[in-house]
Amino acid sequence: MTAARTVVRTDTGWDPRRLAAWSEPHLANVEAALSRWVGIDAPVQLGDAMRYAVLDGGKRLRPLLVMAASEAVHGDAAAALRAACATELIHAYSLVHDDLPCMDNDILRRGKPTVHVQFGEADALLAGDALQALAFELLTPDDTGIAPEVQAKLCRLLARAAGSQGMAGGQAIDLASVGLALDEAQLREMHRLKTGALLQGSVEMGAACAQNVAPAALDALRAYGAALGLAFQVVDDILDVVADSATLGKTAGKDAAADKPTYVSLLGLDGARAQASQLLDESLAALDRSGLADTEALRALATMVVDRDR
Ligand code: IPE
Ligand code: IPE
Ligand code: MG
Ligand code: MG
Ligand code: MG
Repeated sequence: MTAARTVVRTDTGWDPRRLAAWSEPHLANVEAALSRWVGIDAPVQLGDAMRYAVLDGGKRLRPLLVMAASEAVHGDAAAALRAACATELIHAYSLVHDDLPCMDNDILRRGKPTVHVQFGEADALLAGDALQALAFELLTPDDTGIAPEVQAKLCRLLARAAGSQGMAGGQAIDLASVGLALDEAQLREMHRLKTGALLQGSVEMGAACAQNVAPAALDALRAYGAALGLAFQVVDDILDVVADSATLGKTAGKDAAADKPTYVSLLGLDGARAQASQLLDESLAALDRSGLADTEALRALATMVVDRDR
């Protein structure tokens, strides 16, 4: 079956092969670091559940955003690698909990049985807890040259993105909104928090790997991350409708089945596509005004977010 793409944009000049060439070494570094750091020395089957949740799967968008933003501001590469892994750990933890029976009750994730199906609910809960804690441990090493102020800034940004004013808050709204007809402002707020905050936070963490970044550049990167983050969840809503489970690696059609308000339920497929396309324009416009010399990877990642099949 041909996978249904989400939003076809031919006017942004992005080249998937150039993005792949840029991403490849970063992805290799992130995979190696995650494999070195996750679930080592954890008792009984907790380590296995943590590694199962994190390794061998996922697009690694958040780590790539950290890396691209850090490169754009000439950030410290060691700090960026740790920040990249930390964002992925928070993301992986959010997926493990999102899939639990008390939340979305999903059995398929990244093409495999979900963590609670494989290891049981209690270990899924604990694996999520431990992944969240590990993220902050990775950001505060005592044996590297990463400046203490950078470490503290990275922790603050990640805590903010993950907590009640970010992902966890958005998930609470999501659960409270089942069966409700949210208006556009309410839906935007839910998506901004549950998904946008960690994506925007990833961009901000990349930028925080350098000190003395111009305030105008930081503002622009923040706006880029906010638009991209929202676009990402709009496209996730679209893919839930147009894609198949094999391509997605997770169960398609779940949003309508669970009566979740989404951009597709509010605006229809064409309306959601137009929204994603407009958000892409916003994110690219923010980069244009950033004053940063090299934003090619950030531009390509934004385009990939709206033009993807999984
Ligand atoms: C899925 O995120 C959950 C949302 C926040 C919408 P991704 O689509 O980035 O999932 P992986 O990491 O590629 O599996
Ligand atoms: C999840 O949103 C957002 C998270 C914080 C994990 P969804 O519930 O739409 O994500 P999927 O579709 O299960 O990946
Ligand atoms: Mg959910
Ligand atoms: Mg879900
Ligand atoms: Mg979804």
